[in-house]
Amino acid sequence: MTKSDPSSVPPSAPAPSGGGKAWGGVFSVPTDQRVEAFSESVSFDCRLADDDIDGSIAHSRMLADCGLITAAEADAIRDTLEAIRAEIAAGEFPFTAAKEDIHLHIESALTDRLGDTGRKLHTARSRNDQVATDLRLYCRRAIDRIDAGLLELQRAFLGMAQREQDLVIPAYTHLRRAQPVLAAHQLLAWCEKFARDRDRLADCRRRTNVMPLGSAALAGTSLPIDRERTRAALGFAVTAANSLDAASDRDFVCELTFVLSLTAVHLSQWAEEWIIYSTDEFGFLKLPEAFCTGSSIMPQKINPDVLELVRGKSARTIGNVQQLLVLLKGLPTAYNRDLQEDKEAVFDSIDTLEAMLGVAAPLVAGTSFDRDRINASIDRGHLDATTLMEALIGEGVPQRTAHETVGKLVRRALTAGCSLADLSDDACRADYAGWNGSLRQALGASRAVERMASFGSTAPARVAEQLAAWQLRLEAATE
Ligand code: ARG
Repeated sequence: MTKSDPSSVPPSAPAPSGGGKAWGGVFSVPTDQRVEAFSESVSFDCRLADDDIDGSIAHSRMLADCGLITAAEADAIRDTLEAIRAEIAAGEFPFTAAKEDIHLHIESALTDRLGDTGRKLHTARSRNDQVATDLRLYCRRAIDRIDAGLLELQRAFLGMAQREQDLVIPAYTHLRRAQPVLAAHQLLAWCEKFARDRDRLADCRRRTNVMPLGSAALAGTSLPIDRERTRAALGFAVTAANSLDAASDRDFVCELTFVLSLTAVHLSQWAEEWIIYSTDEFGFLKLPEAFCTGSSIMPQKINPDVLELVRGKSARTIGNVQQLLVLLKGLPTAYNRDLQEDKEAVFDSIDTLEAMLGVAAPLVAGTSFDRDRINASIDRGHLDATTLMEALIGEGVPQRTAHETVGKLVRRALTAGCSLADLSDDACRADYAGWNGSLRQALGASRAVERMASFGSTAPARVAEQLAAWQLRLEAATE
């Protein structure tokens, strides 16, 4: 433990009368040290330091513009806050549970250095609107970082799709061989999911990008402030219109945590699929060795632990959503101290997603398909049955009849232990009197893929269009 490590806040020294607290005046006895230890949040909200300082600099500049402090005082506050920022970044700033949270730490350090000038910073502000502002700034930055991470992951999937463009793989429903698809089509499916996640993040960012500062404790202030200036300085899109709501609204925290949990669920599904595809039994994928680990007892093992941990870590992000919704459900209007419990959940989800994305993109970039093994077994499982049925429909056979007819042909092939293409014309005519040689054009996995046509299908031409569209879309995307 170092004096600047906020995760192990030391117990406070006996406090002077009033406890030396921001609210000392009315109290005649100091806060019990057990209460300090119980109620401190600096051990986790210390990560809001940069946002707290940004908020305070904008607030003090606004106070000066409105004549509530002088320009020189605002300059001194800004310079001193920047010095405090540097000390925190360098690990030289002392943290103590006696000063409950990061907001009080920074303000009291300011006051220690500037005296009365520092004591003016909290004019027309409360910690309620302050913490709401800080958390919004923090979440807004996190959204942008995670969005950039998702973009990188999409680029990795697109790169792999471009490399594997012509490869035909089996696709599954119920984890049973269903129809053949292009590997690129399968990989672009992940790009779609992560695009929706990015869209949800952008939407959540809109509601996060709202400025609560100046709502003060809950009622606003009688002082002549200009919230528009603070909003502009902090780059928020709008100023919150109701002080009661603004000081306690944590919808954005719930939304972000939910969006991150759904993103984590997508990552978990991907991890599960690739764990299966990279087994020796499937043999579809070759994972990069640097992203696998071994066994301490079985020398031959090369395990997909990274993918398992991606799948495993998604669980905590789901738990965090639950925690936040339960936290909020019983709260009456405006700030309640329960809200302090919002931070660890959203921080954990943010950290978890950043950690997952940090390994996911390079893992995808380093993975390739085992073409030989896939090609060797691609015609197993009658993947062409649906296309043959559609060829019969093309000859005027009603769908239900065509389905039944091909079902019979599959049964015939199963009995003979062969593929549909191996059945003789005579055998086929026994189930479908109109059987002709041209129907053979529908057989075989590659042909089944080539015959696809509809928009959104795995048809080579459609997939090529999608690859080009994704290329343009991801090139144009900004981080
Ligand atoms: N540490 C508190 C939190 O995270 C800051 C706001 C405290 N406000 C108050 N009135 N006690 O929510």
